[in-house]
Amino acid sequence: MKLTIIAATGGTGRILVDLALAAGHDVTAVARRPRDLPDEVRTVRADMQDDPDLRPALEGADAVFSCLGPRSKAEAVARTCAKGTAAAITGMRATGVRRLIVISSESMTVVPSPDRPNPPKHDPGEGFLLRHVVGPPARKYFLREQYADLGVMEDAVRASGLDWTIARPALLVDRPPRGTYRTAVDRKPKGGFRIARADLAEFMLGCLTRDETIGQAISLNY
Ligand SMILES: NC(=O)c1ccc[n+]([C@@H]2O[C@H](COP(=O)([O-])OP(=O)(O)OC[C@H]3O[C@@H](n4cnc5c(N)ncnc54)[C@H](OP(=O)(O)O)[C@@H]3O)[C@@H](O)[C@H]2O)c1
Repeated sequence: MKLTIIAATGGTGRILVDLALAAGHDVTAVARRPRDLPDEVRTVRADMQDDPDLRPALEGADAVFSCLGPRSKAEAVARTCAKGTAAAITGMRATGVRRLIVISSESMTVVPSPDRPNPPKHDPGEGFLLRHVVGPPARKYFLREQYADLGVMEDAVRASGLDWTIARPALLVDRPPRGTYRTAVDRKPKGGFRIARADLAEFMLGCLTRDETIGQAISLNY
């Protein structure tokens, strides 16, 4: 298949590029600073803060992946994920590409967004620590801007009319893939609190052949 991978130089994006190539796909990588990408990858340079026209990267694609993430709090305040995903959606509509798979965060099950102002107060998958100790200060202080960015992004994806999947990973770690992990729709799988970027990338690629993931926000952890 012809795949376009946005933010191909990020932790998850770079792994996804390699997995896609190994599976025989034709890969176009979108990056603001293309570097260290395999020779067989077609590269398109775009900075998501510049409201880029992504049509050249999307024309003829069978699916689009976004592995965007802010590298700093300032980039979260600047709404990197929301802006970049909006540009992808605009470009996909213009080019007739329908399949979109994006990364969000498992915390979004309980974080409000403009279109979803009253999410459940608790996620049934959360353990005591996440629910009472780690989650509240993260949402209120430490990751507030990151979650606000992801909230606007998720709203746009849901409203896009495209064939979308939102992957909501737990804490991302750079470990070898386990190959097995748990998933749950609209809630966290009970208990786990991390997942390797390699397993997240494998899950995202696997969505291509799993149409039941269309229109779903799926949390992943071990
Ligand atoms: N870290 C965690 O524990 C965790 C947990 C749950 C969810 N998430 C979410 O998972 C996603 C992926 O995380 P990750 O750690 O794999 O990503 P990452 O390594 O932080 O990479 C972020 C990617 O976004 C690109 N990017 C940032 N701003 C850009 C801009 N203005 N224009 C174009 N590209 C831009 C970066 O490009 P450069 O390479 O040029 O900087 C890089 O390719 C993020 O959305 C994050 O919020 C993270």
